[in-house]
Amino acid sequence: MRIVLPTPKPDISISPIPNGLCITPPFSSTSILCVHIISVGIMLSRDLFLIDPDVVFLNNGSFGACPRSVFEEYQRWQLELERQPVEFLGRRIMGLLKDAREKVGPFLNLTADDFVFVMNTTEAMNVVARWLMLNHLKAGDEILTTDHEYGAMNNMWRFACQYTGAVYKAVPVTLPVTTPENFIEDIWSQVTPRTKILFLSHITSASGLVFPIQELCQRARTAGIITVIDGAHVPGQLSPLDVPAVGADFYAGNFHKWVCSPKGSAFLYVHPNYQAAIEPIIISHGWPNGWPGSEDGIFAARHQGQGTGDFAAYLSVPAAIEFQKSHDWDSLRADCYQLRSMAYEQMQAWTELPGLSPNTDTWLAQMVTAPLPPCDVNEVKTRLYDEYKIEMPVYDFQGQPYLRFSFQAYNTEDDLNKTIYALRHIFAR
Ligand SMILES: Cc1ncc(COP(=O)(O)O)c(C=O)c1O
Repeated sequence: MRIVLPTPKPDISISPIPNGLCITPPFSSTSILCVHIISVGIMLSRDLFLIDPDVVFLNNGSFGACPRSVFEEYQRWQLELERQPVEFLGRRIMGLLKDAREKVGPFLNLTADDFVFVMNTTEAMNVVARWLMLNHLKAGDEILTTDHEYGAMNNMWRFACQYTGAVYKAVPVTLPVTTPENFIEDIWSQVTPRTKILFLSHITSASGLVFPIQELCQRARTAGIITVIDGAHVPGQLSPLDVPAVGADFYAGNFHKWVCSPKGSAFLYVHPNYQAAIEPIIISHGWPNGWPGSEDGIFAARHQGQGTGDFAAYLSVPAAIEFQKSHDWDSLRADCYQLRSMAYEQMQAWTELPGLSPNTDTWLAQMVTAPLPPCDVNEVKTRLYDEYKIEMPVYDFQGQPYLRFSFQAYNTEDDLNKTIYALRHIFAR
C-alpha cells in the first residue's frame, strides 16, 4: 500500500509493547504522543459484556453491545413467550409493551402514549416518510437536509421524492464546523417557500457530529416546516435526552446502540399535533381504533402491535436502562467523552490534519471521526482487524479517508493506545 504521510521523520523505533506507553510519533517533530497511563477513571469490566474479549472493539456506533445480564433478560422474555405463546401474544403483550413504555418514558421525558417501540431507527423514519409522502409532499416541495445524513435515510427520502416529485436538497456542511450559530445560519439560509420538511441527524453517522438541532426545530415550527429528526445515535450518548424539548415533530432513536439493549430496539416519537393523524405502514388489529381492551392512546394503539413477532428486545429496554443506572453511567459516559477527546488530540498530533469540529462536547459525544492521510481505506481497515484485532470503521467520506472511534463504557485508554500504535505501524509500512 502506498501512503503519503506528513513530514516523515524515520528515526524512531516503535516499542513492541502496545499497552500504556509514552510513544514519540514517527511522523512529527512538533508533537509528542504521550499516551496516558490509565488516567481515565475505571471503565466497566469487559466481562459484563458479551463482546469477544480478544477484539479491541471500537465500533459501538454501528450496532451497540449488550451486557450479559441484559441479554439474559432478553432471553428470559423469549422463553416466557415460548412457554405459553397464546397467553403471551394473545392476552398479555399489549399490556407488557405499555408497561415497558411507561418504564422507558422518563428516560426520554415522554409519556407511554407519545412513543412506540420499533425495531430500529430505519423503521421509525420510514413510517414518518411514508406517511408524509402519501399525505403532505407534492411536486416541487423541498425536503431540506445536509450532506452528512445516513445513506439509508437518503435512499428513503429519494424514494419519497420519486413518488411525489419533491426535491431532496442537501446543504453542504462547512467543515470544520465552527459555532452552532454558523451551522444554524448555513442551514436556515437555504430555506425557501418550497421547504416543507427539515430532516436532520441529531448525531451524524460518518462525521460523528452533534448537530445543534433545537434552534432549527424551533424556527421550523414557527415557519410551518415539519421537522423529522434522526436520533439513531442519541439515546445514551447525550444525556439527559429530553425529546419534547428538542422541539421536533418526529424523532426516532435507537436503544440498541448506546443504551446497551438487545438489537432491534428503538423508538418513534410523534408530537401530539400528529399523533391522531399518522398512519402505520403495517395495518394490523390496532387500526383504526386500537386493540380490543387496550387503553393505549391512538398513536400507540395503531402503531405498537403489528402481528406475530418477538418483542423481547423491546421488553428488555427497561433492564438496559436499569443496568446503566446501577453502574453510574453518568460517570462512565463522562470518561468516554474524555477518551474521545484524547483520541481527537492524539490523532491530530499524529496526522497534523484538522478535525471536523472543535474538540468540545458541543460538537462531539462518545464518537470522533478523524481524518487519515491518503490511503486505501479498505486495506487499513482490514489490517487493523487482521493484524491487531481492532474493530473500527475506516471509510472515505466526501473524498477524504477517515476512521471513527466509538467509546463505550467497556473501552479503556488501552484500546486507544493500541489503535494509535497500530495505525503508526500500518502507515509506516
Ligand atoms: C445517523 C444514523 N441514522 C440511522 C441509522 C440506522 O440505524 P438502524 O440500522 O438501527 O436502523 C444509523 C445507523 O448507524 C445512523 O448512524
